Amino acid sequence: MRFDIITIFPDVVRAAAEESILKRAQAKKKVVINVHDLRDYTDDKHLKVDDRPFGGGPGMVMGCQPIFDAVKKIKGRRKAHVILTCPRGKTLTQKRVKKLTSHRNIIIICGHYEGVDERVNQFLVDECLSIGDYVLTGGELPAMVVMDAVTRLIPGVLGREESLVDESFEHGRLDYPHYTRPADFRGKKVPDVLLSGNHADINAWREKQALAITRKNRPDLLKDSK
Ligand code: ADE
Repeated sequence: MRFDIITIFPDVVRAAAEESILKRAQAKKKVVINVHDLRDYTDDKHLKVDDRPFGGGPGMVMGCQPIFDAVKKIKGRRKAHVILTCPRGKTLTQKRVKKLTSHRNIIIICGHYEGVDERVNQFLVDECLSIGDYVLTGGELPAMVVMDAVTRLIPGVLGREESLVDESFEHGRLDYPHYTRPADFRGKKVPDVLLSGNHADINAWREKQALAITRKNRPDLLKDSK
């Protein structure tokens, strides 16, 4: 899979791409991550990529020209799924992340300022995504979130695909609690059942815990579960 990220803060995105799973995934040739500075595509001699909003109002709006030209150049003749990160988008869920793994090429435009000229949304973007009901200063963190969540689902990236089966949001519920050694940490003990070696009992306990945690923290998920 190939990601092309269009941003006014390329160093921020590059830093994320050079650590941990994203770094490993690139080393294993599972993903290619290209980061593009939007200012490289502006026709403005002062390298401006934004302007005042028509109709008045606060803040600045990212203009069409650099974004349209960047996407055209980056896409070339390839087919690519174009995402805009913005708080107005559909909320990113594990289901949407899984759907994104079907694309060979993903271009992410990092939104900024008051927003992006609506014609970008109308004529260039396939999907506008929000990472939650809060407003960030820009779309770089959301772009990294999308890349991270998608990359870890690509076969061979984690090298332990079986662990994806039980994780949070699978089967419409959150993950069960995990423990590791020591079994007794300063008097705080691991539940006996996990030390019993009885896998039927362990599975039943985990199922019960997952349900209890979901009911407490995210009852909305249970409404959707099969
Ligand atoms: N830009 C600012 N806030 C955002 C959010 N919550 N999701 C995606 N992009 C954003």
